Amino acid sequence: MRKVIYNRFGDANVLELTEQAVPVPEQNQLLIRVKAVSINPLDWKVYGGEMKLMSGSKFPKSVGIDFSGIVEKTGSHITGFKTGDEIIGMLDVFKGGALADYVVVKETDIVLKPANTSFAEAAALPVTGLSALQIMDQLAAVQPNQEILINGASGGIGIFAVQIARQRGAKVTAVVSTKSLDEAKQWGADKVIDYKKQDIQQLTQKFDAVIDLSGRLTFKAAKKRMKDKATFVTTLPEPQVLLYSFFNNLFSGKKLKILIVKPTVENLKKLTGLAEQNLQIVLDKTYFINEVRKAYNEASKGKIIGKSVILFD
Ligand SMILES: NC(=O)c1ccc[n+]([C@@H]2O[C@H](COP(=O)([O-])OP(=O)(O)OC[C@H]3O[C@@H](n4cnc5c(N)ncnc54)[C@H](OP(=O)(O)O)[C@@H]3O)[C@@H](O)[C@H]2O)c1
Repeated sequence: MRKVIYNRFGDANVLELTEQAVPVPEQNQLLIRVKAVSINPLDWKVYGGEMKLMSGSKFPKSVGIDFSGIVEKTGSHITGFKTGDEIIGMLDVFKGGALADYVVVKETDIVLKPANTSFAEAAALPVTGLSALQIMDQLAAVQPNQEILINGASGGIGIFAVQIARQRGAKVTAVVSTKSLDEAKQWGADKVIDYKKQDIQQLTQKFDAVIDLSGRLTFKAAKKRMKDKATFVTTLPEPQVLLYSFFNNLFSGKKLKILIVKPTVENLKKLTGLAEQNLQIVLDKTYFINEVRKAYNEASKGKIIGKSVILFD
């Protein structure tokens, strides 16, 4: 089978498409034939070596966190799935391994694919959808009528975050670049700000939650836009920010929360439920597995709307 691996940290050129043996599932595992894998900024942070504290530096390493596919074989202890089931799932962020024709998973890594989505759309759900759910329901704990600012609203997490915040009854201000102004309205944003033309620090409005998905807004800067008991969420779990948040949250009404995405079957099911209702999944470009370097080169330059996905033919 084909599998993408790398033997040193670097840019997308370290990614190699290799031939490997198809893995054999143990009693409590399933073998999945992969149909599509989504591209996440986490991928290039890990293969770029930015996260070697968590990923370790032992090679070869694998790529690809979230995927859709079909159950090919089940171990003898598997009861919840059968051969032929269409599923989505998420692997360990720092180990990856979904960019392969086949992957071995545990029952708790997967749920049934939403029936109304293609394999490509379904693969775009887990990492960013779970992140958006965790941000809205746990970190910011968004309540009806609260005012929420989402900075970086046209990316993978942002598009889901806007829709979920609206579904929770919040009033959403979405910050995007010029190309996504119309789309952000379509996803449900009440107000849209073009960050290329307007500095959010010039706003007079204060928010109950400020969510930064761009990695460019600091807590210090965000505080000016926060109400007294508001929450700021960052997706960058840097050690100094984690430490700072601990002391800040003991003493300040303005809370600093940090996303560390935790996949659970319960949240994956919540997500597929949303997809089966009306959650819009936005795909930018799709690629085939033999274009893996091109796919990561293009995606890592940004300027896309939604998600890029790699398909297995
Ligand atoms: N800690 C965790 O567990 C965890 C989990 C998942 C993701 N993440 C991280 O979360 C971040 C967001 O993930 P994602 O998948 O949504 O990434 P993404 O798809 O790359 O989205 C980032 C968004 O930020 C926007 N942006 C760039 N510069 C901006 C600026 N100056 N002001 C406002 N917006 C700006 C981009 O819009 P334009 O293209 O229009 O500029 C883009 O829509 C990434 O850093 C990712 O690594 C962390």
